[in-house]
Amino acid sequence: MDARLATHEPVMLETVLRFWFRGDDGVYVDATYGRGGHSRALLERLGPEGRLYLVDRDPDAVAHARSRFAGDERVVVAAGPFSRLGELAAHWSVVGRVRGVLLDLGVSSPQLEDARRGFSFTREGPLDMRMDPEHGSSLATWLAGVDERRLVDVLERYGEERHARPIARAVLEARRRGCLSTTRELATVVAGAVPRSGLRRHPATRTFQALRIVVNGELDELEAVLPQAARVLELSGRLLVLSFHSLEDRIVKHFFRSPRRGEATREGLLPLASLAPEPEERRRNPRARSARLRVAEKLRETDACPGA
Ligand SMILES: C[S@@+](CC[C@H](N)C(=O)[O-])C[C@H]1O[C@@H](n2cnc3c(N)ncnc32)[C@H](O)[C@@H]1O
Repeated sequence: MDARLATHEPVMLETVLRFWFRGDDGVYVDATYGRGGHSRALLERLGPEGRLYLVDRDPDAVAHARSRFAGDERVVVAAGPFSRLGELAAHWSVVGRVRGVLLDLGVSSPQLEDARRGFSFTREGPLDMRMDPEHGSSLATWLAGVDERRLVDVLERYGEERHARPIARAVLEARRRGCLSTTRELATVVAGAVPRSGLRRHPATRTFQALRIVVNGELDELEAVLPQAARVLELSGRLLVLSFHSLEDRIVKHFFRSPRRGEATREGLLPLASLAPEPEERRRNPRARSARLRVAEKLRETDACPGA
């Protein structure tokens, strides 16, 4: 199937809209467009003078947004990493004017389901894993140059993998023998390196998460975008972040932490809500199982220097 036509079920749709959309013609940013599940619902409510700026680093997502909203004057689409949000907002002349920024982190279902992207251990594909296949290094390139110490560190840090050392050794041994070219080969090597357990998760789950995070610099991207998102908001504008594992959520939670109860952070934000999906959504949509939505509202202008 054409990956651009594949769908992604938006997580916590009603809850996201309740906090994101403020009932008028404001300026909004969806910095992780994906397949536009959240954006479409916002646009159904947004008035003719409202504006929605869409960002994604994945060319398929950007192509989807451009064709889906061609002719809708309320929509502006940009390709690139969201760590450039401040620069994009300046280009659009919306710094300090945005009513709501949404970050729905991680990969989309179309990315996972398209074997050619190399994200999935259940599909045979190249070792790529880049959200933007036109920039940066693929997983194959990264694995070709990595040493054991670095690989163990990445698996422990980004996958919280207890068996990092035996996995790293097995991966490097497979590389030496020239048997590490596809996602399935990698998954098989990992599965063979860890003790069999009663866990329902595939033994390569944590390894694939760790490698995806490092290939896309995901945590650096998140650290970089948060202060920029705070800066582009108008007073009482909101920042919403949907995260899918504890490493992401820890960064967001720390960024939103008030110095004292009821007091704004250095970036002028006050945490409003921390929510998980309802049990019904968790049952229906496996992607929602580990989701956490954090929302903060801008109380005052930031103390931080531009670019800090
Ligand atoms: C979970 S999906 C978003 C799904 C979307 N909310 C929907 O309902 O269809 C995440 C999207 O964000 C994009 N993305 C992740 N990290 C990014 C980054 N650092 N910069 C730009 N886009 C990013 C991915 O390419 C993916 O398309």
